[in-house]
Amino acid sequence: QELQLNLEQIEKGGYDHFMLKEIYEQPDAITDTYRGRMLVDEGIIRMAGVDDNIERIANAKRIIIVACGTSWHAGLVSEYIFEDLARIPVEVEYASEFRYRNPVIYENDVVIAISQSGETADTMAAIKLAKEKGAFVFGVCNVVGSSISRETNAGAYTHAGPEIGVASTKAFTTQITVLTLIALKLAKYRGTISDSDFRYHLQELDRIPAKISKVLEENEHVKIIAEKYKDAPNCLYLGRGYNFPVALEGALKLKEISYIHAEGYPAAEMKHGPIALIDEQMPVVVIATRKGHYEKVVSNVQEIKSRKGKIIGIVTEGDEAVRELADYVIEVPETMESLTPLLTTIPLQLLSYHIAVMLGKNVDQPRNLAKSVTVE
Ligand code: AGP
Repeated sequence: QELQLNLEQIEKGGYDHFMLKEIYEQPDAITDTYRGRMLVDEGIIRMAGVDDNIERIANAKRIIIVACGTSWHAGLVSEYIFEDLARIPVEVEYASEFRYRNPVIYENDVVIAISQSGETADTMAAIKLAKEKGAFVFGVCNVVGSSISRETNAGAYTHAGPEIGVASTKAFTTQITVLTLIALKLAKYRGTISDSDFRYHLQELDRIPAKISKVLEENEHVKIIAEKYKDAPNCLYLGRGYNFPVALEGALKLKEISYIHAEGYPAAEMKHGPIALIDEQMPVVVIATRKGHYEKVVSNVQEIKSRKGKIIGIVTEGDEAVRELADYVIEVPETMESLTPLLTTIPLQLLSYHIAVMLGKNVDQPRNLAKSVTVE
């Protein structure tokens, strides 16, 4: 028993929980994801799974992404980048809905299945269905040799290293990294991105790990915010564009480990319903980075303010407008819009982590949840 405990202590590498360790591993995990694949100076991305099937993938009439939970959120982020850069239409589906819907699948569709564990039952079933209908299935998995990685026609591993905490953290950011590389590769092949823009993306992606380290320095500040809102019964998360899926992911993190009810919404949808919830008791986390509909998000923040909601803004360094309106802000370094999710996600992970710890919850193994959902 004692030996077991010590072993776990060693595995946590000095951190109190696996989740915190995994949050802090993200700069290295992302570097591991693109190392050897992204050659910044040469302006090349090499990924065997994509290179070997480039015609099939790049000529897809449509990409259908299937996944569950956090992996589904990574799929949603990548929908923006695939459509924006590679100009291929993308649909993002919950694997559980897709598999039972009798979906229309064409032989020239490419299905991308995203799964950290590579063992999720619904995602596996969705893959089998897509293959039966003749689609080409590409897997983005973390666990090497997992069932999904074996069932797919080709794939790319995230190389995030083992993720033990039930709440997915580094798996999410490395999935976005892999999907960004794929989108860039397809864009280059299809001629939908200029050479200079392509190179600029590589350079910016290469700067992300250092920028995440900078965000992690905000940890003590995030702790203060967690202390302030840990007893709130509800919490709203808002974002637009690339950061809408980050809002969903922030809300999922909070509910799964702290058991606080949280909802993520596209910021502009607020006025179609959720705004009715806002009063002085309601913390609202708003992702309001400078690139990406900034003015529109600021006006959403004003709407919350005038209803006395409590505002926690995730903003770009040096921001003034949101700072003036918000109760708290957490700054992230500037980057290109498509890469902001890799930065804005970090404070939301830390916020849910600290709230759960303060509430005495079992952070690494929340109630009713399993790390991989191998049954329906
Ligand atoms: C996220 O924090 C959850 N643990 C959960 O939503 C998870 O992402 C989902 O079950 C999918 O798992 P997979 O990536 O292993 O397929």
